[in-house]
Amino acid sequence: MYSQEEQRSLFDLSKAYLNGGGALQQESADEQINKLRRLIEYHEYRYYILNSPVVSDPEYDRLYKMLEKLEAEHPELITPESPTQRVSSDLSSDFPSVEHLTPMLSLANSYNEEDLFEFDAQVKRYLNIPEEEDIEYAVEPKFDGGSIAVVYENGRLLRAATRGNGTVGEEITNNARAIRSIPLRADFAGLGIYKAELRGEVLIRKDIFKKINDQREEEGLSLFANARNTATGGLRMKDPQEVAKRGLEAFIYTLGYAVDETGNDVLSRFSTHQESLGRLNQLGFKVPIEGVERTVCKNIKAAVGFCHDWQEKRDGYPYEIDGMVVKVNSRELQERAGSTSHHPRWAIAFKFKAKQATSRLLRVEYQVGKIGSITPVAKIEPVQLAGVTVSSVSLHNEDFITSKDLHIGDTVLVERAGDVIPYIVKAMEELRNGSEQPIEFPKHCPINDTDEPVELVRIEGEAAWRCPVCVCGAQNLQKIIFHVSKNAMDIEGLGKSIVERFYELGWLRTIADVYRLDYDKIAELEGFGEKSADNLKESVEKARQNPIHRLLHSLSIHHLGQKVSKIIAAEINHVLDLRDWDLEKFTHIKDVGPVVAENVIAFFSNEHNIKLLEEMEALGVNMKQTEDDLPKSASGEGPFVGKTILFTGSLQTLSRKEAQAKAEAAGAKIISAVSGNLDILVVGEKPGSKLKKAQALGTVEVMTEEEFLERVG
Ligand code: IVH
Repeated sequence: MYSQEEQRSLFDLSKAYLNGGGALQQESADEQINKLRRLIEYHEYRYYILNSPVVSDPEYDRLYKMLEKLEAEHPELITPESPTQRVSSDLSSDFPSVEHLTPMLSLANSYNEEDLFEFDAQVKRYLNIPEEEDIEYAVEPKFDGGSIAVVYENGRLLRAATRGNGTVGEEITNNARAIRSIPLRADFAGLGIYKAELRGEVLIRKDIFKKINDQREEEGLSLFANARNTATGGLRMKDPQEVAKRGLEAFIYTLGYAVDETGNDVLSRFSTHQESLGRLNQLGFKVPIEGVERTVCKNIKAAVGFCHDWQEKRDGYPYEIDGMVVKVNSRELQERAGSTSHHPRWAIAFKFKAKQATSRLLRVEYQVGKIGSITPVAKIEPVQLAGVTVSSVSLHNEDFITSKDLHIGDTVLVERAGDVIPYIVKAMEELRNGSEQPIEFPKHCPINDTDEPVELVRIEGEAAWRCPVCVCGAQNLQKIIFHVSKNAMDIEGLGKSIVERFYELGWLRTIADVYRLDYDKIAELEGFGEKSADNLKESVEKARQNPIHRLLHSLSIHHLGQKVSKIIAAEINHVLDLRDWDLEKFTHIKDVGPVVAENVIAFFSNEHNIKLLEEMEALGVNMKQTEDDLPKSASGEGPFVGKTILFTGSLQTLSRKEAQAKAEAAGAKIISAVSGNLDILVVGEKPGSKLKKAQALGTVEVMTEEEFLERVG
């Protein structure tokens, strides 16, 4: 449809407009309108047909608004073919077309609270409602999947269609029948409805999406880019059996059409949006859960608050949502407000900050880890992702670069979801212009700043290249950073940048140096002073007394994590006992695999390491087993064995971490969201939506912090 060159020039032109337009704005309105229309058509094609946008939603919207503005200034230039004159199309020729009973419109978008207040003011102006009066709004998630219209006649599912171009969609009834949350029959007669059209969104739960992709990876198939593509792709599969396997779900968000047997419109029987969703829920449809996922707000201010709450909760929600939808609740007011050819005037989407964006891969830098693994890091043109500027993205290892076929100069799709570190989803091959350069992974240690080149090695079965003998000290620095970090010795006040500073000053060369710092000198450093030096001294003092499982974990032994460190610590009296341990002895302990065992043996057979530990012991670092090294409850025992647990709200006597540790010691497994899998919810103060959701499920045991403490003893 578009050649590679065309795509490249459309992409560059889009970026030029988005970056302010410059010379473009000197062109005639006619020319600019034509250009913007071509750009918008292209981006709609990438989004709706290919399911692979090259600009973010806000960027697309800005282009769209530029066009709308120019057209408003020059109405004589508006033609019926302009993208502003119809909703976007996702039609393809694989399925028969069917006309919707009423057009499926799009939504107006907003990105901040001012936009929402302006929307409220606009609705009031349009409806002649005085400014000081409140309008009631229903607010619910904006599901990020594929839209669907399902028609019921005489209580039976008659047909289902995708949105298509809004007027005509693709008929996908057989596929819709494979979606369990779409009832095949529903008692519409009880509501006096003979024929109805419901609109909703077809989605796939994030964890199921992940499972599907994991499975595909195992089978060597290409991976789906995201949950949305998996859902929209699922709707259009040829074989309904395959659709059923994908585990799609449909959330209904509106009743678009309803007539009785004589063909009379009966929509007005539902006085509010809230009521119609409630009724549909009673008929067996999946709708956003009342009071949790959707709510009625008495005015726009409350609606803004609900939108903000959800922006925070977005990542913990089991489905992908890209914003919230604010809808005038009263059906009568909705009818009075009516629609433009593009969207209803009574609703607006509040879009969350984009999680994906395109950027350019400028160069690759390399970092060395604590055991010498070389990690390539892509430096990209800075982009805004979910409210944060991202300019560095890890490329993990050479295989990652090869599997994604990344080149310097590529336009890349970058994603940052919640707390997850940003990553490169893919390179946009279709935007290459031939100037891109392959990334050549170095053969020698790229960090080494001495004159002695060190050849990198790759251990069989591992993805990383490693620098086997560090001659420049860079690995020691990483070891120290890890040694003092929170999960290891947990030395407060000795963060990464301070370790780097002390390392530069020559004060830290090995982990033993941490215990011989000169606090008088530290107090004199700029930015320190007596107080911080004293605090640091205290933290180091505390670390000297740490249980030995922390010390074991802090030694940067490859693959030796917190859990196995604890298991090993429980078996020894003194850390140096491990000098006498052989593979045979390790094989008797459950959960310690041969690879970790070999690594521990290698570490304790190395004279330098033993000297280092002896030095540390002489400096007062505890090497003997303590109470804390012994398991609180033998695995398979405890009051919560086999149960899943989740904490919500602020706990009064325990920190979240302590509570989780106690729960684990009692045999429970911690999970992160309320779902059908959850057994126990422990509620602190201000528990919020998790509690409501758990109560709605009806299968979750809810307990207070006090009750929890009693149970774990
Ligand atoms: S209301 C006539 N509510 O967003 C009202 N739409 O960008 C128009 N969407 O095509 C739709 N969640 O597929 C509405 N809670 C929700 C929604 C929702 C997702 C989709 C819908 C629509 C698109 C518009």
